[in-house]
Amino acid sequence: MRDVKTLGLLGTGVIGGGWAARALHCGFDVIAADIDPNMETWIRGAVETAQPALKALTAGFDMPAPGSLTFTTDPRDMAEAADFIQENVPERPDIKSRALAEISAIAPADVIIASSTSGIMPSDIQESVAAPERFLVGHPFNPVYLLPLVELVGGRKTAAQTIEAARSFYLDLGMHPLVVQREIPGHISDRLQEAIWREILHMVAEGEATTDELDQSIVYGPGMRWAIMGTNMVFHIAGGEAGMRHMLEQFGPALEWPWTRLKAPTLTPDLIDRMVEGTKHQAEGRSIRELETIRDECLVAVQRVLAKHDMASGATLNAFEKRLADKPARS
Ligand SMILES: NC(=O)c1ccc[n+]([C@@H]2O[C@H](COP(=O)([O-])OP(=O)(O)OC[C@H]3O[C@@H](n4cnc5c(N)ncnc54)[C@H](O)[C@@H]3O)[C@@H](O)[C@H]2O)c1
Repeated sequence: MRDVKTLGLLGTGVIGGGWAARALHCGFDVIAADIDPNMETWIRGAVETAQPALKALTAGFDMPAPGSLTFTTDPRDMAEAADFIQENVPERPDIKSRALAEISAIAPADVIIASSTSGIMPSDIQESVAAPERFLVGHPFNPVYLLPLVELVGGRKTAAQTIEAARSFYLDLGMHPLVVQREIPGHISDRLQEAIWREILHMVAEGEATTDELDQSIVYGPGMRWAIMGTNMVFHIAGGEAGMRHMLEQFGPALEWPWTRLKAPTLTPDLIDRMVEGTKHQAEGRSIRELETIRDECLVAVQRVLAKHDMASGATLNAFEKRLADKPARS
């Protein structure tokens, strides 16, 4: 696998824009391809918007000079120039398979191709990829420039070296690569998010809670713990001195009670209206950009605080700072 100097992006929407901002800030050049010419303005704006948060996140770090961004509407130009390709086209197997076939026919076999897919199993789209052993899923989280998690999932034909080389590249982007042992629909993290999302939709559809009440139930409670420790460690502590064993003894019986309805509800027009109107009301007139700025400032602050304790995403930040300091400057 080759040394990466230029990251190629296929699809430059929300996720492509996030990858661009992160990679440029970490000193990589980016060539971004989108079939929609309007996306050039969009991606340049997205990179610009991410700057303050990225600078605050890495304040005091020995960052390389930022990379430069090129945009093209021809994915083949991108495939010729890139050392590592991250695909971010819409979440549809047919669109992804076609796009991956086109670029993999051009990108040399030592160029890794990663898909940002939220839940499609790599084996289901790997057949369309030329030299499929260099293909994997590298699933990020929005905003990609601030959240360190990237799930790495290999398909049936993915080589072990591909996972290892991708892992190393994502570390160079300051991320926390999590290698998923076995491919399953939704990988790991989105299965958890999806479970909550389904329960939310049921409760809104049944009139049991509003979008605002559901968000309060997370923001003032479990959500605060999740940035520090995952559910399992949180429950271990909640069990008192006997830890997880007591937790299971106490709440084990509740697992038999109807506390969840994991089968998804039907997205009726009424449910869609309730979700849309509910979140619009919660936004209190603030635009998406304004909400993003608030979110980003808080995400930076959380990571900088966690770094003081070398915990969770703060430990990733500390490891990134050390990696930059230990690494010879890129030529
Ligand atoms: N939005 C999220 O929170 C999120 C999080 C993690 C992963 N993902 C995944 O990332 C991928 C992209 O999601 P998104 O939210 O950025 O979507 P998006 O709709 O914002 O962007 C998709 C972009 O792909 C472009 N496109 C479509 N067909 C193309 C082609 N053949 N070649 C090049 N460009 C093409 C579109 O013009 C559009 O700009 C999906 O697989 C999604 O599941 C999304």
